[in-house]
Amino acid sequence: MDKTILITGASSGLGRACAERLAGAGHRVYAASRRAAPVAACTAVAMDVDDEASVTAAVARIRASEPRIDVLINCAGFGIAGAIEDTATDEAKAQFETNFFGATRVVRSVLPQMRAQGGGLILNVSSLVNQLPVPFQGYYCASKAALHAYTEALRYEVAPLGIRVAAIEPGNFATGFTGARRRASGWTEASVYAERCAASIAWMEEDERKGLPPARFAERVHEIVMHPHPKLRHLAIAPVERVALLLRALLPSRAYEWIFSRVSKAA
Ligand SMILES: NC(=O)c1ccc[n+]([C@@H]2O[C@H](COP(=O)([O-])OP(=O)(O)OC[C@H]3O[C@@H](n4cnc5c(N)ncnc54)[C@H](OP(=O)(O)O)[C@@H]3O)[C@@H](O)[C@H]2O)c1
Repeated sequence: MDKTILITGASSGLGRACAERLAGAGHRVYAASRRAAPVAACTAVAMDVDDEASVTAAVARIRASEPRIDVLINCAGFGIAGAIEDTATDEAKAQFETNFFGATRVVRSVLPQMRAQGGGLILNVSSLVNQLPVPFQGYYCASKAALHAYTEALRYEVAPLGIRVAAIEPGNFATGFTGARRRASGWTEASVYAERCAASIAWMEEDERKGLPPARFAERVHEIVMHPHPKLRHLAIAPVERVALLLRALLPSRAYEWIFSRVSKAA
């Protein structure tokens, strides 16, 4: 059965790949982003998830032409790099504004429709860093961990209304994410963290550039969308990232930290 699906962050990367995959499967896809970039076989929607009025107006436009919103995929997001001490509170707030509050705004906008129709699916794009935080991207990791806790709490609240809620945690994928990464204003040559931060971010960005193709992520999302009872947490990760998860679970924490601080160039 075809569904009406709203995807945020659909102008690029993972969101775009999901929009193309789901539209290709015959669903009616609304592809939202600030740019409202056209995506094949989708309806482009202008939406800035940082802006309450923009989210409300975009969802109202969809509701005006669709009797249902079956699926919301919250994919809009970006990363900020820099030591925690070098990141100003306003920069940290901007990270949460998009990655966390952006998702919560869209959820609150679609829930009345999903309640009225007696069901729906909300899929939040979290990150593997929710489980394996990385240095020099502390606020990004924190925003995704917050999104994950929120997803689990929401799942309990709306399950009796027939609404399913899940999170997907991608590892490294080759997308526009790397190029769009912001840099904390305190990350200057004068920072005591400058050298380790640069090495760690270079390590991460190299892994991202060599990451999995977004189509792999979209395939996983398609499975979740079509599943009648998706579980809470879904991983979309490479084998090497699975090994890291296993090491975290099996090793004493000091041993894991010793290894990971060296792998991530923080030591
Ligand atoms: N790539 C990875 O390795 C990776 C790993 C783990 C998690 N993730 C997560 O996956 C999601 C998608 O990232 P990506 O890799 O596909 O990056 P991307 O290629 O940079 O795409 C990010 C998307 O978010 C949109 N966006 C950013 N700020 C927005 C705002 N304020 N309002 C509305 N849309 C906004 C962008 O569109 P506009 O600029 O047109 O608004 C774009 O469509 C993010 O939440 C990211 O944290 C990515």
